[in-house]
Amino acid sequence: MFDGHGLDLSAAPSPTSVEEMRARQANIGRLCDDDSLLIIVNNPEATRSADVEYPYRASSDMLYFVSWDSPDAVFCLSNSSGELKSILFIPPRDVIKETWTGIRLGLEGAEGQFPIDKAVSIDEMKNVLSTLLDGCKNVFHQRGLCSTVDDIVDQSLLETSRTRQRTGSGPANLCDPRPLISELRLFKSDSELELLRYSCKIASASHIEAMKNASAGMNEYQLQSIIEGCFKYNGSQWSYPSIVGGGDNATILHYVENDSPVKDGDLVLIDAGCEISGYASDITRTWPINGKFTEPQAILYQLVLDSQLAAISACQPGQSFDAPHNAAKEVMAQGLLDLGIVEGPTLDEAMSPEQLGTYFMHRTSHWLGLDVHDVGVYAPDDEPRLLESGMVLTVEPGLYFGAWRPDIEVDEKWSGIGIRIEDDILITNDGHEILTHDCPKTIEELERIIGTSS
Ligand code: GLY
Ligand code: MN
Ligand code: MN
Repeated sequence: MFDGHGLDLSAAPSPTSVEEMRARQANIGRLCDDDSLLIIVNNPEATRSADVEYPYRASSDMLYFVSWDSPDAVFCLSNSSGELKSILFIPPRDVIKETWTGIRLGLEGAEGQFPIDKAVSIDEMKNVLSTLLDGCKNVFHQRGLCSTVDDIVDQSLLETSRTRQRTGSGPANLCDPRPLISELRLFKSDSELELLRYSCKIASASHIEAMKNASAGMNEYQLQSIIEGCFKYNGSQWSYPSIVGGGDNATILHYVENDSPVKDGDLVLIDAGCEISGYASDITRTWPINGKFTEPQAILYQLVLDSQLAAISACQPGQSFDAPHNAAKEVMAQGLLDLGIVEGPTLDEAMSPEQLGTYFMHRTSHWLGLDVHDVGVYAPDDEPRLLESGMVLTVEPGLYFGAWRPDIEVDEKWSGIGIRIEDDILITNDGHEILTHDCPKTIEELERIIGTSS
């Protein structure tokens, strides 16, 4: 009997509390300052074909401040001389529409369950939002997401630019809220970390399940279905389209076709993560489909693993965001020099974009949170940011020797090998925590586990 891949679903953390979301609203209200209005527009629905929509994903900012996860919603937070008021515009109850697309909470239901002072029908947004705009000085609104809201804001700015000289009131400045919101979202709270840990736990179990059920000749989509089935079984969904590439396909960074058999003797690279209450995990593992690394595969795999471990060691508070990347590059370049794959002759030259960059062409890390490539400035004032407790980042060095590439010439034994190893790391007060520690990655661990259920 299917056992949920060994996870205890009752251990799932609670979604973020209403109190915490109210505190986040207070934080952003303070940052926006007095006489401001913050507007957050939820993502629109997208048509897949004819009457079929893509699965809906709310905007991460809407999830962060309100956790409202359906479309046609606009959140407004006004700060009038320090007094905050939050309003959520949503579709009202409508039996005919609900019969087709699902029961709605309605205005009263939303007011009772969500961190808002008032819910207003989206049909009344034009009037109510215009009045809110009349009463503020600074409008924090990201243009380009919803033309209806853009038009209301534009109209208000246009009209008040005429009257402002007379009355001195009405919106004067249009500001982008994203830099302020990003700074808040970059530092994860205890409850966010619980959700991230759980997301990493599900993703780790899912990768293990694919390893256990693997055998030579399986199609990439069969491995994908095991991983994504495990996500779903445990109440999560993918946080980005899964990458499952066997052999040469592993050398395409964003390979998503996932439709080829993985040949005996080939490595398979699986980059797949899930999200729970919006919080993403992001794991890559690379392993031999038949359970045994060949000697060249093992040499390159160990090199990528050593460089990843060096990068993880550099994940310390006070280190710069670039430190893990530099550590990974140094180990990788030295290894490629020793193997004669790059010429150097110095380590600095071996680390250059022309040498190491030919085979390791991406960055080592990105922030992780409500978005898999989460928000937060990497280099404020062009200086790499220092890592601080509460930040979460990935560490994912890789080496790629695509046999399809006309621009490289490597010994036959390395050709067609692509390897990436990716873990999710929380910076703590005294070092780091590897959130994805459940997912095996040493050669011995992998060879022990692959194919044990097939
Ligand atoms: N899965 C996308 C990435 O690793 O950045
Ligand atoms: Mn990543
Ligand atoms: Mn990834």
